[in-house]
Amino acid sequence: MKTLKIGVLASGRGSNFQAIIDSIETGYIQARINLLITDNPKAFSIERAAKHGIESLVMLPKKYASRDEYFMAAASELKSRGVGLVVLAGFMRIVGRPLLEAYPNRVMNIHPALLPSFPGLHGQKQANDYGVKISGCTVHFVDEGMDTGPIIIQAAVPAKDDDTEESLSERILKFEHKIFPEAIKLFAEGRIEVRGRKTVIKGAVFDDRPLINPPLGE
Ligand code: GRF
Repeated sequence: MKTLKIGVLASGRGSNFQAIIDSIETGYIQARINLLITDNPKAFSIERAAKHGIESLVMLPKKYASRDEYFMAAASELKSRGVGLVVLAGFMRIVGRPLLEAYPNRVMNIHPALLPSFPGLHGQKQANDYGVKISGCTVHFVDEGMDTGPIIIQAAVPAKDDDTEESLSERILKFEHKIFPEAIKLFAEGRIEVRGRKTVIKGAVFDDRPLINPPLGE
């Protein structure tokens, strides 16, 4: 099987980027990260890339005439390196149509809430303010909407009564670092089929134990 080439788009600290790097370096995922694109010259992700011998490219949106031109340029950088999967790891922009057209059902994003609840910015704060008992995170393919594309994998994470945005975010982040690499592994193994707005994961074993929070009494 040909090794999957991945392109990562990230705007910040890149802890998800790191989790993906680690899963590749330990051999859990058969893939290679060929390029990091960032819109933020101060992103810590750049240092992570350098440390692991990954090429990085700072692409500043203000240098492009329009959003479409920006994402057309990004798509051509990715294509010229043979990238087959684009991963958004804390990329703080809505992806433009040229990139989605170049990579249909091949752009993945992680969102820190159980979609379709709490899309957009600050998913953890939205969930905490709302008072949900279970939140979580979602990996999905990206379409033109805001966090609306077909869902690949989700983790349900209990919320505590005294949670703050920070404590809930921290609990969710640990699971982001598990399910993002998992989704990429499934993709690399050719196990994700998109049917309309659903995905079907080949060979997945269904576990019907529910998560109830707070747990049932005796
Ligand atoms: C994560 O919470 C992710 O879910 C959201 O942005 C944050 C990025 O964090 N899309 P990091 O840069 O991966 O540490």
